[in-house]
Amino acid sequence: MLYIGIDLGTSAVKLLLMDGGGNICKIVSREYPLSFPEPGWSEQNPEDWLRQTVEGIRELTADCDRSQIAGIGCGGQMHGLVALDEEDRVLRPAILWNDGRTAEEVDYLNETVGRETLSRYTANIAFAGFTAPKLLWMRKHEPDLFAKIDKIMLPKDYINYCLTGVHCTDVSDASGMLLFDVAHKCWSPEMLELCGLKESQMARIFESYEVVGTLKPEMAETLGLPASVKVCAGAGDNAAAAVGTATVGDGRCNISLGTSGTIFISSKSFGVDPNNALHAFAHADGHYHLMGCMLSAASCNKWWMGEILKTGEFAAEQALITEERLGNNHVFFLPYLMGERSPINDTNARGTFTGLMMDSTRADMTQAVLEGVAFGIRDSLEVAKSLGIAVPRSKLCGGGAKSPLWQKMFANILNLDIDLLETEEGPGYGGAILAAVGCGEYASVEDAAEKLVHVTKTIHPEPELAARYEAQYQKFRQIYPAVKALFPALH
Ligand code: XUL
Repeated sequence: MLYIGIDLGTSAVKLLLMDGGGNICKIVSREYPLSFPEPGWSEQNPEDWLRQTVEGIRELTADCDRSQIAGIGCGGQMHGLVALDEEDRVLRPAILWNDGRTAEEVDYLNETVGRETLSRYTANIAFAGFTAPKLLWMRKHEPDLFAKIDKIMLPKDYINYCLTGVHCTDVSDASGMLLFDVAHKCWSPEMLELCGLKESQMARIFESYEVVGTLKPEMAETLGLPASVKVCAGAGDNAAAAVGTATVGDGRCNISLGTSGTIFISSKSFGVDPNNALHAFAHADGHYHLMGCMLSAASCNKWWMGEILKTGEFAAEQALITEERLGNNHVFFLPYLMGERSPINDTNARGTFTGLMMDSTRADMTQAVLEGVAFGIRDSLEVAKSLGIAVPRSKLCGGGAKSPLWQKMFANILNLDIDLLETEEGPGYGGAILAAVGCGEYASVEDAAEKLVHVTKTIHPEPELAARYEAQYQKFRQIYPAVKALFPALH
């Protein structure tokens, strides 16, 4: 049988077709716009996601035997608020995971309601990108629209709803709403009340690999697929990427370098970071995970190359960064182009180059951007280590994982073995695996991931380079505390 994996990302939807043996038969990708209507805001149109997903599925399946398609699974950008009215029409553009408009609501939640209370209800505290603060923002700034909300959905759940007609979500994505009691895997009545919501406005919760329904007849016709195709609940993109990189079960780590950058540590038991710097979420394998999320990762490099250097020649620019330059850069970059989530939780933070001199070069600055992202992930790794979590190695996936230079920087800056995989299509591959499990092709998510995911290469840290990078990291970590107080005045 064949399975469709969908990665509903921030810059594009990427779709892949996988056979029952885990082989990827075809990949297609379709972009959609991202808008920043005000500084720090970030929105997308759910209808754009839907149109491109539908077109993408048609293109993906154009030359296969469509009767063989058994299931669809989606990994989607997390936390986005999709508000539907009682006719299931989208009320306003979705407010995305990297939107920073809710500083006031985050303060109210963390300071007035209190971190301890939030953590007791949901296992997490408030971050600007999470869904609950956005609902509070909407209640205050768009009361008429807020009053019309009949259903609250996350991005991939909107797609699943359009495919099946079922208002559903999964435990991993629901975890990022700050409305979900992660320990007990149910909506938190206290948080719903705090946000002025009723449980009837929330979607039905599934485990990520469970089937929520089959294609609606009219959707099956539009897609040219059998109406018997099963749609599984899917997962937040990071949990899906973790499945796609076999970061399942206990104590495994995956780093994803997409628009965002995340470090994801799987665990069989529920656990909370006592300082809530790392998110404590449910996992798509039926268990749990801790995660740190940087708001701008590969997107820093994309911005630097596209907006500033005006080039698309990523490899050529990186070729200027020769071996002896590694660990010796005088230029540092704070990668906070959209503010930052983990671990500093500061919507006011901004990107910064420091250490420039008359002899600094374009290559030094490109290098600083790549290193700044790896240092940012190291900040979250340090939090995990401080909790006594051993992380000896990590998988690496996402668009940024294709760069051999960045792979080497990650291995040495984090001082970890970095495992590379046959495919870096983490969320899409994970989505297809979840669909295969939902359709009964594999006994469990862990079983499927173990059988299908293969490490092709490991990048080992080199002791001398890792030592140089250790010294560089100690410099990097002093920069943000030194400039933090300036940022609010720069807006
Ligand atoms: C995770 C997060 C991002 C998005 C990106 O908490 O906000 O990784 O899921 O798609």
